[in-house]
Amino acid sequence: MVLPKLLLLPLLAAGSAAVDISVSSSGGNKTSNIQYGIMEEEINHCGDGGLYAELIRNRAFQGGSEFPSSLDAWTSVNDATLSLKQLSNPLSSALPNSVNVKAAKGDKETGLANEGWWGIDVRRQKYTGSFYVKGSYKGVFKASLKSITSGETFATAHVDSKSVEDDWVQHRFTLMPRKDASNTNNTFSITFDPRHTKDGSLDFNLISLFPPTWNDRPNGLRRDLMQAMKDMGPKFLRFPGGNNLEGQTLPGRWKWNETIGPLKDRPGRATTWKYQETSGLGLVEYMEWCEDLEVEPIVAVWGGFALNGDAIPESELGPYVQDALDELEFLTGSVDTKFGALRAKVGHPEPWKVKYVEVGNEDNLNGGLESYKSYRFRMFHDAIKEKYPDIQILASTVDMTLPEKAGGDYHLYDIPDNFVSKFNFFDQYSPDNPVLLGEIAATQFNGEDINWDDTDFALYPWWIGSVAEAVFMIGAERSPALLGTTYAPFMMNLDNYQWSPTNLAFNADPSKTARSTSWHIYELFSHNHITTTLPTKSSVDFGPLYYIAGKDEDTNSHIFKAAVYNSTAEVPVSLSFDGVKSGSTAQLTVLTAPDAYSMNEVGQRDLVDRRVEQITAGEKGVFEFELPDLSVAVLKTDS
Ligand SMILES: *[C@@H]1O[C@H](CO)[C@@H](O)[C@H](O)[C@H]1NC(C)=O
Ligand SMILES: *[C@@H]1O[C@H](CO)[C@@H](O)[C@H](O)[C@H]1NC(C)=O
Ligand SMILES: *[C@@H]1O[C@H](CO)[C@@H](O)[C@H](O)[C@H]1NC(C)=O
Ligand SMILES: *[C@@H]1O[C@H](CO)[C@@H](O)[C@H](O)[C@H]1NC(C)=O
Repeated sequence: MVLPKLLLLPLLAAGSAAVDISVSSSGGNKTSNIQYGIMEEEINHCGDGGLYAELIRNRAFQGGSEFPSSLDAWTSVNDATLSLKQLSNPLSSALPNSVNVKAAKGDKETGLANEGWWGIDVRRQKYTGSFYVKGSYKGVFKASLKSITSGETFATAHVDSKSVEDDWVQHRFTLMPRKDASNTNNTFSITFDPRHTKDGSLDFNLISLFPPTWNDRPNGLRRDLMQAMKDMGPKFLRFPGGNNLEGQTLPGRWKWNETIGPLKDRPGRATTWKYQETSGLGLVEYMEWCEDLEVEPIVAVWGGFALNGDAIPESELGPYVQDALDELEFLTGSVDTKFGALRAKVGHPEPWKVKYVEVGNEDNLNGGLESYKSYRFRMFHDAIKEKYPDIQILASTVDMTLPEKAGGDYHLYDIPDNFVSKFNFFDQYSPDNPVLLGEIAATQFNGEDINWDDTDFALYPWWIGSVAEAVFMIGAERSPALLGTTYAPFMMNLDNYQWSPTNLAFNADPSKTARSTSWHIYELFSHNHITTTLPTKSSVDFGPLYYIAGKDEDTNSHIFKAAVYNSTAEVPVSLSFDGVKSGSTAQLTVLTAPDAYSMNEVGQRDLVDRRVEQITAGEKGVFEFELPDLSVAVLKTDS
């Protein structure tokens, strides 16, 4: 029999005694100052086709043995013939492929068009474009943004040709649409008058178009996604992966030195995630991303291991260790050093600071642990420590004995119930070897098995999963060993993805970006940072109410964070802090959602309800409030 909810709830609520919690004024743990962050790797088109704001898909026909070069995303204008070429004098050795556009007989205008990353967002804003062309042409190029559905042209730039017979010449232009397009079903095209060419054809390469970017950086990042990250309040960025750092095979590893400098010198690479990347979002762009969000980089260096299980033998690992040192010199060395000078040459004389370096990714998997334990981690660790004694070095696993002060990285993808049952998981770790939660996410519903061969994971984070993550994170926050936490993967393009769920989801239309239910938890917890935890006393054990208390020593506020999981009724809480008197005020923020399966979807309303109220401590300084099932809350005193 199903009892009507309205009858059942008040009865139970009336019957359950309040959870009394008293918080001491000293005796807790110092916490990390980078508790919540972001993780990046090229998956789900979260870089190319996502955060990296380039609007043209397949802009330079990059490809290789794994994902061959193609004309994907390109169509001809009028009856032009498009053919992929490897010319004897290519644009660059990094970009050997180009497209030849040949007009049909009698055409007065011919060209090519690109459909973008499954759409192009057209608005009244300035677009910055460029393309390389080879072949004699004494006319004008037209660069246009057009609707596919109605054929309407939103903007056209007329670009005088500087094109010559035997060389590649770059042309630049800007576009300013007169109106916003009603949807993203638009193309970008370049056309020319074939009658003013030698044989009716021209060769094109590296065709690029950017909307306004975050901080107006050239070759920059998408504004809506940067805003969503900034609003979350992250403290670190772990990059460039993830599995993508490793590569499927040893030669397929992520090579930092092929992701820097002019775009025409970046060959791109086969990602681990079923597509070719441009490397337009490269090492320098990652650091600018950190700069723009004011977060600490956690730089992952390649650790001598590929996903297919191959490892570099000990006797051959030396040059790869040197490559990691070179990368760190590129990032942090003065301009007098070899690689510091290279950084200056690509536009960044000022060195960056790097405090955290991770060696590899998930080296406990695919048979990597033995070589990692026996020599790989140690060789990287010792070399980096010697040259950079202040850098916190992290192993990519916690399944091994770590050298003094080295940290580890623990990843958890699981069902909500298992996040909750791991509430005390962190108690086993000591701050002498801090632990990064470099990838966590509730991926499947309770009752389901985590089956890695059949990735029927949830499409988006859903509320009970997010609450379970909150319970786990509260448990982790108590520990002085926690370095930081990040959801993974962090983003996906809903029109082409390899793995869900993600913290943010989007498509070509920036107004449809979804901040997930889990995003709200990170946002709430990150903005209420506990610098020192405080011991609590309660008559009741943890569950269904899970909580942590502490202080923010910068503001002198007392903070209480809680999540309710699996309660049959609202949980009444009576909370007092040693030293906080009757009449003191606090702000209570409570997050809830319509039901356990509520998801924030691309283009849909945000379902997370955020209730903020001012409450006052009553007699003996006790704050009284009730938290419903599946709620996540923060109480912060007004110091
Ligand atoms: C774009 O418009 C074309 C032509 O009307 C249509 O066939 C196509 O399905 C549309 N694509 C999207 C993504 O709406
Ligand atoms: C990048 O560094 C590797 C050594 O790790 C070297 O073999 C390769 O030639 C370099 N590539 C470029 C473009 O400098
Ligand atoms: C939550 O409740 C369900 C149903 O009673 C139970 O199966 C599950 O173990 C509980 N989970 C936790 C973490 O308490
Ligand atoms: C301090 O950390 C230990 C070990 O993780 C934990 O058991 C304890 O509850 C923490 N104390 C506080 C007050 O958070």
